[in-house]
Amino acid sequence: MDAESGPGLLRFITCGSVDDGKSTLIGRLLYDSKLLFEDQLAALSAASKKSGTRGDDLDFALLLDGLSAEREQGITIDVAYRFFATNKRKFIVADAPGHEQYTRNMVTGASTAELAVILVDARKGVLTQTRRHSYLVSLLGIRRIVLAVNKIDLVGYSQERFESLEREYRQFAEHTALRMTAIPMSAAEGDNVSERSRHMPWYRGPTLLQYLETVQLDAPAAGLPFRMPVQWVNRPHQDFRGYAGRIASGEIRAGDRAVALPSGRECRIERIVTWEGDLASAASGLCVTLTLTEDIDLSRGDVLAAADAPPPSADQFEATLIALHANAILPGRSYKMKIGSATVSAIVAPLKYKIDINSWQHLPAERLELNEIGVGELELDRPIAFEPYERSRELGGFILIDRITHDTVAAGMLHFALRRSQNVHWQTLDVNKQARAAQNGQRPGVIWLTGLSGAGKSTIANLVEKQLHAAGRRTYVLDGDNIRHGLNKDLGFTEQDRVENIRRVAEVSKLMVDAGLIVLVSFISPFRAERRAARALFGAGEFIEVFVDATLADVERRDVKGLYRRARSGQLKNFTGIDSPYEPPEQAEIHLDMSRLTLEQAVERVVEFMRRRQAEA
Ligand code: ADX
Repeated sequence: MDAESGPGLLRFITCGSVDDGKSTLIGRLLYDSKLLFEDQLAALSAASKKSGTRGDDLDFALLLDGLSAEREQGITIDVAYRFFATNKRKFIVADAPGHEQYTRNMVTGASTAELAVILVDARKGVLTQTRRHSYLVSLLGIRRIVLAVNKIDLVGYSQERFESLEREYRQFAEHTALRMTAIPMSAAEGDNVSERSRHMPWYRGPTLLQYLETVQLDAPAAGLPFRMPVQWVNRPHQDFRGYAGRIASGEIRAGDRAVALPSGRECRIERIVTWEGDLASAASGLCVTLTLTEDIDLSRGDVLAAADAPPPSADQFEATLIALHANAILPGRSYKMKIGSATVSAIVAPLKYKIDINSWQHLPAERLELNEIGVGELELDRPIAFEPYERSRELGGFILIDRITHDTVAAGMLHFALRRSQNVHWQTLDVNKQARAAQNGQRPGVIWLTGLSGAGKSTIANLVEKQLHAAGRRTYVLDGDNIRHGLNKDLGFTEQDRVENIRRVAEVSKLMVDAGLIVLVSFISPFRAERRAARALFGAGEFIEVFVDATLADVERRDVKGLYRRARSGQLKNFTGIDSPYEPPEQAEIHLDMSRLTLEQAVERVVEFMRRRQAEA
């Protein structure tokens, strides 16, 4: 049997804000429980070895902290798991740091816990963060919580204070599925942690440790039939093909009929293989390799399930999302979604609302910022077998990963599949500028550099592009000299040709901005009217006119291409600044006075402008 989910073991998480006394509390529990937790650790690791696989376990928590690519980048998630035991029970406590920005740690710790101890400082009371943590643990499927009213000694062991906090919290918890027990304590003084306090004769309930030792937990997701996400295909040689994974629910016997999802192909279980030999049957929690009598081809991410009671499959869902990263969750952006052992693409489309945890109000949401909790619709690129998170953490819990940075940006829980007609897909209807911009992670726009020939437009455009590119922006440079070799090779330098030249370039940049790019346009574009017409094609803030302001004297003196000399000598007609006018911008977004700025400074001005603009987005 599975040692890790037996009645003897309780997994819980402690949540609190900084300085609520969480470490002191855990320290005291470990110290007072007396038994050496190293022994327990050894016992547990032996138990998990027994289960027979390489330990690449499919827990939602491990999905959160194990499979996330962040780990590869050296950013480890900061949850400490501690083991202790009394003669009544074994405990694994997840200790997640309590700073505002560490919601991810808490989510990780809570996703395998059965109970949460929520600390409040008796002096500070119930904080927004207390509410957020409580709501998060309830979303993550925890139903039992202990409200640890800590530092009660610092309010004179006040019964009144304790009861008013308990009342306040109970009112809040009525909006959740949490069942709460409040205990007044002082972790520092040892009151009511493992020893009954002599200072609070008015309190008749259990100490924290008594409570943890005796609490009866509801049977976990009782009654779900056999489901196992395939973690990997075990094929050591031609004659053996096994599907390895951890049984998420139910029980399987050799000879049982099963169904592979999402393909829906039926099969029969041939063998249940473990390191310690074949089993006749295996139940929830165990890691096994299954072989099938039929030769059907499964891969990682598929789900094997009881043939007579398979889970549904779908590609559109309503889900709760918890934003875990400083980069907000944006509707329209495509994320990598990991659910069970599957990796799919998911677009949030659209966000329905976010939740104000102080008022329980549903607020409209265009994005989800770090720590915010919202509900939205998800559209996947292919169907997956699933269960609502309420029924199965394994088949209903997921994470979203940014495709470019590989950061885990959200944790989520599936509610239900959307019964939308198969062919109505938000994705196909609404891939618009906003969606592409979101995908590119940037605010598209055009940087329109205007100025005399030789003023430095192209040089600046190229250097700016280099920096934007290095910052992860998607860019493209349209340069007069190049475009005149292709698209506009039919055009010369008469006034009407220049008008047409600019008109075409403006239209092309508009398409590129629509494609979600940042376009750098480097054209003399000498006439105000055409620049104004170009600007009119774009939305507010999308057209950034940059006047590369060099004096005629300077460009003529440098005369890099020798064109000014030829124009002066009459060999070149209609040359801008000589016998064709240049109309300087009246209100450029950026004015680069090239007689005073170095090239680097000019470039930095533009880059800085774009940086600020992106940050405003
Ligand atoms: S624009 O006026 O129509 O915007 P554009 O930027 O495309 O001009 O092309 C300018 C480039 O064409 C100059 O950098 C220069 O190398 C070349 N050129 C050739 N003839 C002329 C001319 N008569 N006037 C200006 N630039 C010219």
